[in-house]
Amino acid sequence: MTLLNQDLAEPSSLSTVSTAGLLEKIEILRSALRWASRLERADIEKLLRQANALRDEVMQLSTKERFVAAAAGAGAAARPLPAGERRRALLARSFVFEGTFGDNPDLLDALEVAEKAAPTDLPVLIDGESGTGKELMAKVIHANGSRADRPYISVNCGAIPENLLESELFGHRKGAFTGAANDRKGKFESAHRGTIFLDEIGELPLPGQVKLLRVLQSHEIQRVGSDETISVDTRIVAATNKNLRQLIVDGTFREDLFYRLSVIHVTLPPLRARKDEIPLLFAYFGAEAAESLKRQPLRMTPRLRDFLLAYEYPGNIRELRNLIYRLSCLAGDTADLAHLPADIRPRSAPVQAQPDQPPVAMSAGALGEARRAASDEAERLFLERGLREVGGTVAELARRCEMNRPHLQMLLKKHGIRSRDFRPTGNGAA
Ligand SMILES: Nc1ncnc2c1ncn2[C@@H]1O[C@H](COP(=O)(O)OP(=O)(O)OP(=O)(O)O)[C@@H](O)[C@H]1O
Ligand SMILES: [Mg+2]
Repeated sequence: MTLLNQDLAEPSSLSTVSTAGLLEKIEILRSALRWASRLERADIEKLLRQANALRDEVMQLSTKERFVAAAAGAGAAARPLPAGERRRALLARSFVFEGTFGDNPDLLDALEVAEKAAPTDLPVLIDGESGTGKELMAKVIHANGSRADRPYISVNCGAIPENLLESELFGHRKGAFTGAANDRKGKFESAHRGTIFLDEIGELPLPGQVKLLRVLQSHEIQRVGSDETISVDTRIVAATNKNLRQLIVDGTFREDLFYRLSVIHVTLPPLRARKDEIPLLFAYFGAEAAESLKRQPLRMTPRLRDFLLAYEYPGNIRELRNLIYRLSCLAGDTADLAHLPADIRPRSAPVQAQPDQPPVAMSAGALGEARRAASDEAERLFLERGLREVGGTVAELARRCEMNRPHLQMLLKKHGIRSRDFRPTGNGAA
């Protein structure tokens, strides 16, 4: 029981950790565990604590090794690598992408900065327009650091009323203010040894900024209504879609806080600056949506595809993702301009129009014709959705719609819908 009687080094004294030393400790632990049936509960608990300490050491070591590899790679950055190779190199260094997708050089720059920043405790400021992936990037930084298995606490600074902000961030003592019925931990304490993500940092009012600055300087907090100082070991990642330098000029953001928060500064490019990625993102989110909605992968008419390739995406990746989910959900076999939300649909695309129908002339019969086209399209969408729900069984759909089967078959024929394309084993509808 050598290990039982010898205390493992605390994870904080890991500077001397080596792979050989760790393997030796693990071997001793394994041999101790062979006799586990003879151990008392207290001994088992001690062994478990030791196993956890070892796991922390291994985590720390792999993070360190990754950091060394990333730092070594920094020299090579002078020779630009093709995007695919840069992504593969990140993968080879066990980088955790957390679902971040894309090969755009600016995005890869951001991921490589995140890789180097992750194992350190330096504050990171992420900026970029809404929907560019700032929160995702914060998770990437957390997941690639030594705090990955510790808490990740997200705070939206713009969503907390000003009078509750201090208590939300730092906690309060019972009776500190009306409604403070119990002692309560704040977000900083909850994120102890982990990461706190301060989203919409540009929305933090000036008094909150002063308090945050104090935490960054002293690593201590005080709960509202208490004199006791509590040490917090929390890694700070902040994000904003505002131009903080402009806010400094306007006098609404403190310059000293900006410099404290932005030791590492990551800027995420808007989607319109990486349009080359849009086809890949279609495929990526199309497959994701098909799986989650249990549908065939999305197909688009050429004119919808052209529209989406040229579209500016003010809501960036979030907007593109939402659009693909919407189209996957609403379109039957093939999505068209008519399935776009009304506010972005080009004027020339009448709601529910047939894909290749020429613009309707404003003549006496035009309204009736437009009504007929819309009703036809609604009928087609209804039938496709229905068949999907019943797994392509015409008899079942007829039963549910209280329609006789030959009539339903006639409607399916009219729209060129093949029921077998909706059967689970069917193919060809994709
Ligand atoms: N590179 C990417 N690869 C895959 N998905 C992404 C990528 N970037 C963003 N997303 C997805 O887009 C959506 C929006 O991302 P996120 O919430 O991180 O954006 P944000 O910049 O924080 O937006 P906001 O400023 O509005 O809060 C999420 O569903 C996220 O998973
Ligand atoms: Mg966000």
